Amino acid sequence: AIERTLSIIKPDATRRNLTGKINAKFEEAGLRIVAQKRIKLTMDQAGQFYEVHKERPFYGELCEFMASEPVVVQVLEGESAILKNREVMGATNPADAADGTIRKEFALSVGENSVHGSDAPDTAAQEISFFFSGLELVG
Ligand code: CMP
Repeated sequence: AIERTLSIIKPDATRRNLTGKINAKFEEAGLRIVAQKRIKLTMDQAGQFYEVHKERPFYGELCEFMASEPVVVQVLEGESAILKNREVMGATNPADAADGTIRKEFALSVGENSVHGSDAPDTAAQEISFFFSGLELVG
């Protein structure tokens, strides 16, 4: 089915001017960027977005990193977009990521791993509505 998923190009990647190269990977995989904006998260916003991880030892570090510099938030659309995006991103830890994936090519560490992508249909819907209004989403 045609799906939408929420993607974030993280501060380690925006800082190194990798937005275009990362977007090319999405587009080459057949994912269409149907909404996109560059924003700087506050600590509160980062904390709310990653609330599911709040008991993890890396939560504070994760939120500080995500609020440190601008990110590009985007909605990707396509056939099986949620899984396809996860394949294009590669494993969370770049040391485990397959050749040709975004994290293998660009990520610096498990924390500074260049991209985030929703992991399931329910989280995709929730994460898209966290950043985008209906008016910002055209097909
Ligand atoms: P993401 O897909 O954005 O979802 C949660 C993030 O937590 C994950 O990518 C990683 O960047 C980050 N993360 C996971 N494990 C660790 C860790 N051990 N240390 C720091 N950050 C981590």
